[in-house]
Amino acid sequence: MRKPVVLITGAGGEIGHGLLTRLAAQDPRPLITLDLNPLDRRLAGHVHREFTGSVVDEGLLERILVEFEVDCVFHLAALLSTRSEFAPATAHEVNVEGTLRLLEFAQREAESHGRPVLFMYPSSIATYGLPDQETKARVGKIREEQWNTPVTMYGCNKLYCELLGTYYARRYKQLAAEKVSGKVDFRSMRFPGLLSGETVPSGGTSDYAPEMIHAAARGDAYVCFVRPDTRIPFMAMPDAVSALLQLASAPRERLTRSAYNVAAFNPSADEIRAIVLRAFPGACITFQTDRKRQDIVDTWPAEVDDSAARRDWGFGPKYDLERAFSDYLIPTIRKRYQQ
Ligand code: SER
Repeated sequence: MRKPVVLITGAGGEIGHGLLTRLAAQDPRPLITLDLNPLDRRLAGHVHREFTGSVVDEGLLERILVEFEVDCVFHLAALLSTRSEFAPATAHEVNVEGTLRLLEFAQREAESHGRPVLFMYPSSIATYGLPDQETKARVGKIREEQWNTPVTMYGCNKLYCELLGTYYARRYKQLAAEKVSGKVDFRSMRFPGLLSGETVPSGGTSDYAPEMIHAAARGDAYVCFVRPDTRIPFMAMPDAVSALLQLASAPRERLTRSAYNVAAFNPSADEIRAIVLRAFPGACITFQTDRKRQDIVDTWPAEVDDSAARRDWGFGPKYDLERAFSDYLIPTIRKRYQQ
């Protein structure tokens, strides 16, 4: 007998860390993971079976399909925006081909066990592309359907995969004699920059904020690669994980979109510096703009309108900027570097 399980790809990454712990505590189904690297020991303890390999490895996905009844996929594996610019073709392979393979996998799982497969997909503010700073200042909060003109490989990949997921959910093989769509229950949210106390991000362009905090806690000097007035939305990792779980458990009929904006606060880089300095008064944080990475962040909105997420599935982050630092980031990070 195959067992009903939850599959998490990219489980060893930033979101995976928080998600695995929470799922292990609250979801009775066994968790199986797929990641390029072996999971760290603390995470591996929560997992029923760990697969080490790539999301584009069809043989590996075939083995999982044969052995497990997957009824929920959290497809977290991706190359972030900065890394994707150094290897665009690899980014496309992982971010797009990988997502296609997982959607096909979910479709086949659903066809085989007869229940829809929930497919949770983190998208990003990188799906937006504002043409210049003047427009960014003028437009304020942007809605999901505005400015879908990304300028990065990663942003293009994410926007396209939102469409691909929606296609599987609604129109998959629409000319076939029998209806086969509706078996993948695709749900996605566009995350802002995420701030985690447990992990240091790698390969993103919003990384200046978490890097600043982690460097201060380690006692390292930090040179911030964007201008002090740079402003994009952020969110604390526990709220990102809660949002994923909340969207996953929302009644299907309440959902009016397949991709939702979510965000909690939007400090400038200088405001983040000030709050980090309050917590770590000896920290040395300076600014030296990397023109090219700055150009990327300048195309991302200063603020997003997340009213659809609030209305449809009750999104409401617990941490505002002050609380994210005082109640989560600072204590977690202090503990991390004291160990
Ligand atoms: N945090 C991501 C990045 O910087 C954006 O979603 O690539």
